Amino acid sequence: MQDDQQTAAQEIAALKAELAQAQQMAALGELVGTTTHEFNNVLMTILNYAKLGLRHQDGPTRDKALDKIMAAAQRAEKITNSVLGLARNRKPEFAPTQLAQILQESLVLLEREMQKYRVTVRLEFDEVPNVRAIGNQIQQVLLNLMTNARQAMPQGGELVLRLSHDPAAGFVDLTVRDSGSGIPREQLPKIFERYYSTKQGPDASGKGGTGVGLATCKDIVDAHGGKLRVESTVGKGTAFIVRLPVFSAARPAAAPITKLGIPTEQAQPEF
Ligand SMILES: Nc1ncnc2c1ncn2[C@@H]1O[C@H](COP(=O)(O)OP(=O)(O)OP(=O)(O)O)[C@@H](O)[C@H]1O
Ligand SMILES: [Mg+2]
Repeated sequence: MQDDQQTAAQEIAALKAELAQAQQMAALGELVGTTTHEFNNVLMTILNYAKLGLRHQDGPTRDKALDKIMAAAQRAEKITNSVLGLARNRKPEFAPTQLAQILQESLVLLEREMQKYRVTVRLEFDEVPNVRAIGNQIQQVLLNLMTNARQAMPQGGELVLRLSHDPAAGFVDLTVRDSGSGIPREQLPKIFERYYSTKQGPDASGKGGTGVGLATCKDIVDAHGGKLRVESTVGKGTAFIVRLPVFSAARPAAAPITKLGIPTEQAQPEF
C-alpha cells in the first residue's frame, strides 16, 4: 500500500516536471513571435544606417551611421542573450542568482510589447543580495507575471518592478505591480488554480487564456522555498510579490556561479 502511494507520488512529481517543461516550451514559442518582430526592427535600423553611411561619405554622417548601427547591434545581442537564457537547457540547479539581471533580461523581451500597449515601466531596485534560484525558471515566472500585468492594462498604465531585501527574514522580495483592472475579492482564491482564466483566449499578441500561468509560477516559487503572494484592489491594480530565499554560503549551491553564460557589458570585445 505504502509502495503504491510512493509510486503515485513519484508519478505526480514526474508529471509536474513534464508540465513545467511544456509550459516553458510554450512560453518560448510565444517569445519567438515577439523577438522575430523585434529583430526585424533592429535589422531595418542597421540596413538604413548602413545605406546612409555609404551614400554620404563625409566623416560626421558616417560616424553617426556607425554609432546607430552599433547601438542597434548591441540591442540585438541583448535580445538573443535573453532568449538564450530562457532556452538554454541548463541543468535545473540552484545557484546564486542576481535578480536585477534576470529582471533586465525579461524586460528586454517585453519592452516593445509594453510600448505597444502604452505601458510605462518603472524600476525600483534596492541593493539586494543574490538569491538561491534556478535562473531560467525565475525568468519564466517574471515573463508570466509581466504578461498578466500588461493584459490587465488594455488602455495602458504603469508597471512597477521592485526589488527589496528583508535582512531579518533572509528573503528578497520581487514585486510586479500594475495599475490595471484589479481582481475581485471572490476571484482571488481561484487565480492560482490550474486552468482558471477569465480571458477569452489569446489576445492580439497571441498570449493568455489557458490559465496555467499563475499555477506554474506558484509551483516554481514553492520549489524554491519561496512564497508567491497577491495584493489587489479593483480599479486600482494588482501586485504579485515573489519572495525568494537569500543565497547563503552555508548551503552550497550545486553549481558554481556561471553568470548564466551571458556576457557582461565589460566582457564585450573592444575594437
Ligand atoms: N495582474 C493581474 N491583474 C488582473 N487579473 C489578473 C492578473 N494576473 C492574473 N489575473 C487573473 O488571474 C487569472 C489567471 O491567471 P493566469 O496567468 O494563471 O492565466 P491566464 O493569464 O488567464 O492564461 P495563461 O495561461 O496564458 O497565463 C487571469 O485569467 C486573470 O483573471
Ligand atoms: Mg497569464
